Order: sequence, then structure tokens, then C-alpha cells
Amino acid sequence: MELRAFQYRDRALYCEDVALADIAERAGTPCYVYSSATILEHYRAYDETFGATPHTICYAVKANGNLALLRLLAQAGAGFDIVSGGELFRVLKAGGDPARIVFSGVGKTAAEINDALTAGIFNFNCESEPELALIDALAHRRGIQARVALRVNPDVEADTHHYISTGRLAHKFGVDIGEAEAIYDRARKLENLLIEGVSCHIGSQILDPAPVMEAVDRVLALIDRLRAKGFDIRHADLGGGLGVAYKPEESTPSIADFVTKLKAKAEGRGLRVVLEPGRSIVAAAGALLTKALYRKKTGEKEFVIVDAAMNDLIRPALYDAYHEILPLRLSGSPQIRADIVGPVCETGDFLARDREMAEVMPGDALAVCTAGAYGFVQATTYNARRLSVEVLVEGDKWRVVRQRQTYEDLIRGEE
Ligand code: LLP
Repeated sequence: MELRAFQYRDRALYCEDVALADIAERAGTPCYVYSSATILEHYRAYDETFGATPHTICYAVKANGNLALLRLLAQAGAGFDIVSGGELFRVLKAGGDPARIVFSGVGKTAAEINDALTAGIFNFNCESEPELALIDALAHRRGIQARVALRVNPDVEADTHHYISTGRLAHKFGVDIGEAEAIYDRARKLENLLIEGVSCHIGSQILDPAPVMEAVDRVLALIDRLRAKGFDIRHADLGGGLGVAYKPEESTPSIADFVTKLKAKAEGRGLRVVLEPGRSIVAAAGALLTKALYRKKTGEKEFVIVDAAMNDLIRPALYDAYHEILPLRLSGSPQIRADIVGPVCETGDFLARDREMAEVMPGDALAVCTAGAYGFVQATTYNARRLSVEVLVEGDKWRVVRQRQTYEDLIRGEE
């Protein structure tokens, strides 16, 4: 039974054994709060379900790159999926093992590739022929060989928001799976590459695993063909993408069920399976705490104006995403239907629209749930709003793992 990071006890919302009202009071709002136990539980569900099948779980740093979270995962033995030199820097700072880092992304610069070669990462997931050529040239200069996989685009449709679906030929990611063999053949001439993998990732927030399994079948068939041609393919990187339930009534495959399916496909082939999960590890482990400032009614609508905004959590504005919003204290007050909006000067600045919820009074604190993934990392300082504080809970203890920005931080480097 999955542990729920956020639960009511005596009508007060807790994260693990800490009352969120205490954190809101002492750290202030807006404030991101993360449950370390939940993050570890999710990581371990991946790791333990694979069991003896060779595997590397490379947590996708883009979902939440806070150093304290990365350290937690590094200590649990996780690898990391990075997409920039900045993410590499973070992982190394957090004590991540370079030999378990995969580097994904369509636009790696020469400087980023050099940094990754210096660190000695496990593998580059290459997304084009010119990128293969550049990595080959940079490895040659150092007199080393770089381990690479080609990211193929299997041309399957992941049933998710169109901004985060990546596996169709119309998308910018990877190379057409139909052209992959020819590219592998040409890449044989690049002597400074060890061509040892195939990778794919068809999208994020995937609730139906069927398209992923279809993509896996196509990737495995490609690996069979490549091996028949003499390529020493040792690993299949099957990306991330497993979705989470944002609404209480939504159902998602459990991590264990998802991995069991993948494992069944890959087993017996002498392949290491690499996965790059982000959201499914951290989303449900995090909430954004905010405080109600005002209530107001227009002719048509009721608004609750809170102190968190689209700059803190952009998912509702950008993807029309739904996040459950819970009061930190249950009051039994009547239900209202309202838009929960922030102070930013945009009509798109909302955290929820037409939401039925218990009445909220100014001063009441709320938790915007399932905000641990793509929350803080997508925050901006729009409207000169400071990046919020982040807190990590461990049992009955909590600590600030990123301080709220100061106004001085906001202008650092400007003249
Ligand atoms: N690997 C690659 C190559 C990716 O592009 C991504 C996510 C992942 C792994 C991790 O996927 P996950 O397990 O987290 O689904 N900002 C959006 C999500 C963007 C996902 C981008 N790529 C959101 O807030 O929903």
C-alpha cells in the first residue's frame, strides 16, 4: 500500500509527521514542501521491482533538481538523467555517481559535452547525426571513447497533453526509427564512440502504458536487428513518462506494475534496462503551501486570491493542469465554487478554476497538491516575485533546503 505523503490527522494536514501549518507559519508562504520518505519509496519501487534484472534508474533531474532531493536519491543509489550542463553541475554537487548519469536532450553544446566527458558519464543519448559527430570529435581530442545511444522516435502516440508528447515523427526529438539502422551503420566509422545503446522516450504524464509497451517492442526489434549486424548493444533506455493521479478519482498504473511489464519484455535478452523517471518519483511527494489574501466576487464569479501565483507553479496556466487544493485545517465550513488565483497581472494566473472546495477565509493556508514535479523547477521571477522557499520533511523533522530569495537576489548581476 502506497504511503500518502500528505494526510489529515485531527483535521490538520500533515506531511509525514509534521503539521503543515507549522511549516507555513515558520517558513512563510508560498513554500514548497517535500516528503523524503515518499521520494525514496517511489525510487525503491522502481529499483526493487527490477530486482536481479540489470537496471539503472536515472532520476530525471528536470522534474525537481533541488540539491537535497538529489542527495537523497544519490545516497539511495539512483543514477540521473540530465539535459544540461547545469543539471550535471547539480548532480555532481549532490554527490551523484557520474558512472550512472545519462545525458539526454536535443541541443547539447560542445561545452556541455566536454563537461560530461570530463565527469566520465555513463552515456550520451544522442538525438541527431551531427551530435554524434561532435561527440566523436570531442572524445578524439581527449584520446577517449564516449559511450553513446541513439534516441529513436518510435512514432507512437502517447495519450497526454500535446506539449509533453514526444514520440511522433512531427516532434523534434530523436531520429526516425525507420532511419536508425542506416545512422547506426554510418556511426560505425566514428572511432571514438562506443555505440552501446538505444534510447527512446515518448512523452510524460502517461496514464495508459499501452503506447509505451508498443514503443518498447519497436525498440527491442531494432536492437535485435542491430545485434544481428554485429553491434554490441548492451542497454535499452526506455525513458521516463509514467503519470501520476492529479485528481483523486484518476487511476494510474503503479510503479511496480509498470516495471513488471517492462521487465517481462526485456528479460532474457542480456540487456541492461535504463529508465528515466521524474514525475512518478517526486510529484506526489510535494505540495505548494499558500495563504489566502482576499476573497472577492464579480458579477459572475467568486475569487480566492492567494499569495502563490503562476510564477511559482505554472502548470495550471501552461497546460490547464489540475492540482488538488486542500485546506491545512479542515473546518466543516460550507462548500464554495471559486477560482483560486494569484497576484500576477495576467488572466492566465490561476491555480484552479471553478473549483468546489470548503470555504476559504483570508489568512487560511492551503496546500496545492502533487506539485513536487515540474513545480519549483518551472518557477520564474515574473512580476519581480522572489523564488519561494523549499522544505524537506523527514519523519517528524523538517528543514529549509532552499531559502526564499531576497530582493537583493532578484537584482544580482544587474547594473
Ligand atoms: N526523459 C526524457 C528524455 C524526458 O524528456 C523527460 C521529460 C523525462 C525523461 C522525464 O519524464 P517524466 O518521468 O517526468 O514524465 N513540464 C511538463 C513535463 C515535461 C516533461 C519533459 N520531459 C509538466 O509539467 O507536465
